[in-house]
Amino acid sequence: MTDVAIIGAGPAGLTLANLLQRNGISCVVLESRDRSHVEDRQRAGVLDHYGSEIFAKAGLADAVIAGAYREKFLELRYEGEPHFFDGPSHAGGRAGVIVPQQLLVRRLLTTFLEGGGDLRFAAKDVALHDLTTTPRVTYAGGELTASYVAGCDGFHGVSRGSIPAAELTTYSFDHGIGWYTVLAEAPPPRHALMAISEHGFAAQFARGPHSSRFYLEYRPGAEDPREWPDDYTWEQLRLRLGDPDLPGGAITDKEIVEMRSFVAEPMAYANLFLAGDAAHIITPMGAKGMNLALADADVLATALTAALRDADDGPLRSYSDTCLRRTWDYQEFSRWFTEMVHDAGAQSDPFRRRLAKARFDRLWANPKAAAWFADMMAGTALL
Ligand code: APR
Repeated sequence: MTDVAIIGAGPAGLTLANLLQRNGISCVVLESRDRSHVEDRQRAGVLDHYGSEIFAKAGLADAVIAGAYREKFLELRYEGEPHFFDGPSHAGGRAGVIVPQQLLVRRLLTTFLEGGGDLRFAAKDVALHDLTTTPRVTYAGGELTASYVAGCDGFHGVSRGSIPAAELTTYSFDHGIGWYTVLAEAPPPRHALMAISEHGFAAQFARGPHSSRFYLEYRPGAEDPREWPDDYTWEQLRLRLGDPDLPGGAITDKEIVEMRSFVAEPMAYANLFLAGDAAHIITPMGAKGMNLALADADVLATALTAALRDADDGPLRSYSDTCLRRTWDYQEFSRWFTEMVHDAGAQSDPFRRRLAKARFDRLWANPKAAAWFADMMAGTALL
């Protein structure tokens, strides 16, 4: 018997495990993949200010985010013309930090294991039972009972599907655009760069001293960028970034990023609580996916601790409402941002193109709008 069975060792599950461990609450983490898969899974990661505060508050900043690079400027380039957005100065000094997600995951994993944590890799066929009484979790080769189950097993995990369908309402939204991303041996930009152009959206981010990750909007169904010759990709980047002198370089990785959103409500059923991608998916615009996962884990750790240590189940009962408020707030922000940078394209409705430009102009003309944007980028504490 353990206090909390955590399904999944991604950012949500590992953050929850560490926070519970700090609070003296027992937990067992069941992860379907092996350790090297979990440690080497490459994903982008911008920890917003609020996300990094979670670790600072728990005394884990040194263990988890030491050496992280602090973001200052975001370049928003409009038809080749640079505009530098100084987020921290508009958000009272609050800023995000760049931490590759696999580094964060590795550090969380090591910290939990070094603290004596029980993490079972390669736990196949996880199934949840008796969620309305004393939950039981079975997996190939084992079984455990727990007071509560935390479903942190991502979008394709088993936890959300263990909730009776009649108890859940789900919302899905297809943004009608896709991103093609390439990793290239190309000098990184000085600041994170997003370019708005009639040729379509493009972005460039540093990935080490000599390489960059680029993103290019494409039209799903109408074109398949995986078939683009690399020369065409460079041509598109030069056009969209408004930089005819952008040097080309070897492209070492090509991927498609889906632009979709999903929310399941409520994020709880009896003694099961969903956190992170198990409950919601958000587009990469605004970089909130990982931050939402961490925020859920933080709220859940506090609520489980109140229930198990202080016999106060109030925070647990309001867990779903608390997290859904932030989830929808970030979904709206991500959609707002997506429209601003994508609707300028030549294929967009002309009225929407003008609205997107007005949205962009407001950021530079109205300090309150700039402060709101910076605040959302930095992340919000509880609403
Ligand atoms: N049983 C046990 N573990 C499972 C199962 C299962 N049936 N299904 C999935 N898992 C594991 C996955 O192998 C993975 O390690 O659950 C973990 C889920 O991790 P993530 O998908 O990273 O989800 P989450 O922790 O919510 O983090 C969200 O992921 O979408 C990205 O970058 C986005 O930052 C965001 C982050």
